[in-house]
Amino acid sequence: MGSDVTKWAVVTGAGNGIGAVIARHAVKEGYTVAAWDVDAEGVKAVAADLGEACVPAVVDVTDEAAVESGLDALPQAPELLVNNAGIVRFGPLLDLPLEDWEQALRVNLTGTFLVSRTAARRMAAADGGCIVNLASVNGLAAAPRAGAYSSGKAGIVMLTEQMAMEWASHGIRVNAVAPGLIHAGMSDAIYADEEVRRVRQGRVPLGRLGSADDIANAVLFLGSDKAGYVTGQTLAVDGGLIKSTLASLPRPKSVDSVGTD
Ligand SMILES: NC(=O)c1ccc[n+]([C@@H]2O[C@H](COP(=O)([O-])OP(=O)(O)OC[C@H]3O[C@@H](n4cnc5c(N)ncnc54)[C@H](O)[C@@H]3O)[C@@H](O)[C@H]2O)c1
Repeated sequence: MGSDVTKWAVVTGAGNGIGAVIARHAVKEGYTVAAWDVDAEGVKAVAADLGEACVPAVVDVTDEAAVESGLDALPQAPELLVNNAGIVRFGPLLDLPLEDWEQALRVNLTGTFLVSRTAARRMAAADGGCIVNLASVNGLAAAPRAGAYSSGKAGIVMLTEQMAMEWASHGIRVNAVAPGLIHAGMSDAIYADEEVRRVRQGRVPLGRLGSADDIANAVLFLGSDKAGYVTGQTLAVDGGLIKSTLASLPRPKSVDSVGTD
């Protein structure tokens, strides 16, 4: 039996890649989705695909006025906000222009703060809500030549915890998903190289690259009542990659005591 109560989800960066798939999963879960992106054609195409339960809008997450009017355009506070918009400006720190450093932090970290704060004011005035941020395994372990991407994603992990603590009393849960090696969106170019793909996927304990659906499933779980007692957490969705530091080190079987009697 369907419910006639509309629940809104805002998904930023929904015009491509993982965000478009999160929007699709959110519609499937019964949300009406405000799909935001700076890529007008991208969000239009996603909305055309998803039908009337998806409303596209050009909203730059770094533009305070645009974020305010994007939320004002909704009939009510969103129940779910997914801060998915993100960019990379990869390159060695020794050569990294300040502009690239600032731009990556501005979209990834400041954008997450700005949209969250603006939405949370509305959620707090309603019945609460739920925020899920897209972090990255790059925010949990250092990757050379990641520019400001890793620092920004590590910042999202802490911002997630801080928002969760400050807004729990307003009925707002805040969590993050840290995707691992995902064959989608901004990483498509990496996996276009067969050899790189083979080596990278060989390092993942579960033996495969992740998909946008893997990430969307985790996002929708954290956004759902099934995660109703979870807040301030970052869930790595990475096939075990981030926990595998010791897994590839050799250790002779002869040092095992089990099974030697
Ligand atoms: N794909 C991966 O391997 C991977 C791994 C870890 C984390 N992530 C994170 O997942 C999220 C989605 O990544 P993706 O792979 O789908 O990338 P993507 O490049 O395919 O999509 C990102 C979207 O964000 C939009 N965007 C960029 N700047 C914006 C702004 N200022 N305002 C609004 N929208 C903006 C882009 O137009 C694009 O549609 C990002 O936060 C990314 O850091 C991705």
